[in-house]
Amino acid sequence: MRVLIYHRDADQWRDVLRSRLPEATFDIAGDSGNPPADFLVAWKPPVSLLEEQTTLKGIVNLGAGVDALLQNPALPRDIPIVKLRDAGMGELIADYVRYGVFHFQRDFDRYRRQQASHEWREFDVVDKRDWGIGVLGLGAIGSHVAKALTADGFPVHGWSRTPKRIEGITCHDGDDGLDGLLGQVRTLVTLLPDTPATRQIVNRDTLAKLPPGASLINPGRGTLIDEAALLEALGKGTEEGQLRGALLDAFPAEPLAADSPLWSHPRILVTPHMAGPTPLGAAADQVADALNAMSKGEAVETIDPDAGY
Ligand code: GLV
Repeated sequence: MRVLIYHRDADQWRDVLRSRLPEATFDIAGDSGNPPADFLVAWKPPVSLLEEQTTLKGIVNLGAGVDALLQNPALPRDIPIVKLRDAGMGELIADYVRYGVFHFQRDFDRYRRQQASHEWREFDVVDKRDWGIGVLGLGAIGSHVAKALTADGFPVHGWSRTPKRIEGITCHDGDDGLDGLLGQVRTLVTLLPDTPATRQIVNRDTLAKLPPGASLINPGRGTLIDEAALLEALGKGTEEGQLRGALLDAFPAEPLAADSPLWSHPRILVTPHMAGPTPLGAAADQVADALNAMSKGEAVETIDPDAGY
């Protein structure tokens, strides 16, 4: 089988995949002018690459989110598309979220501001058992995060489009379920895929349904958040508004524009889409398994382009 790799670290991917599939031929793709391949292993391939590759029998997306791929007008619709499922990203994102939750629950946000004015004042700790957390999105990564927070001792509410059952998590679904969840959580974590149904799901209405002083952590997709509504709910300056603070890793346009007001807001932490870098080892196993199965014509777990994930 001939495999074309399109990725910033294509050399590394080629080496780890070659060691797993010694029979296959791997080429590193440029934007165009590449040899015809049976399979494409790629993160955000350009239109020109998909247009020229007319013999593909399958695509492996080198990430968990398929939003960018599905928005590519040259994406073939009649071949299997496989995405990474957790592949070590769940643990990394869970650590990112736990950092954020403790940042707010143990008042590090407030202590940082106090330090700036050399102020020595201790806050009473809100017990973890009283610090409800809502996780929107219970896919491979969302459920990993929800379980990690439960193991830390927080009451966790999860929300998904369709009903789910996860031990130890209070699961909600549908519009009414979302309203029920929002009223009970002090931190909201967004881990939904970017689809027409989830875009700006965190908006003026949803933010108003959170208890005053709630916080937001978004390691998912920037499109999930209505940024103007977020800034409005935060209010200005260091005084906590309806929303106490936000930890944001994903933005509708990346890199985040230098003049974005999010950079300098005193109660927003911005990170550069680093919550869940794809770990090569676990991911390479998944990619190799998928290529192997597809090359033999065996069934693989494909994405649902209509659902968008
Ligand atoms: C990263 O954002 C991914 O979807 O894996």
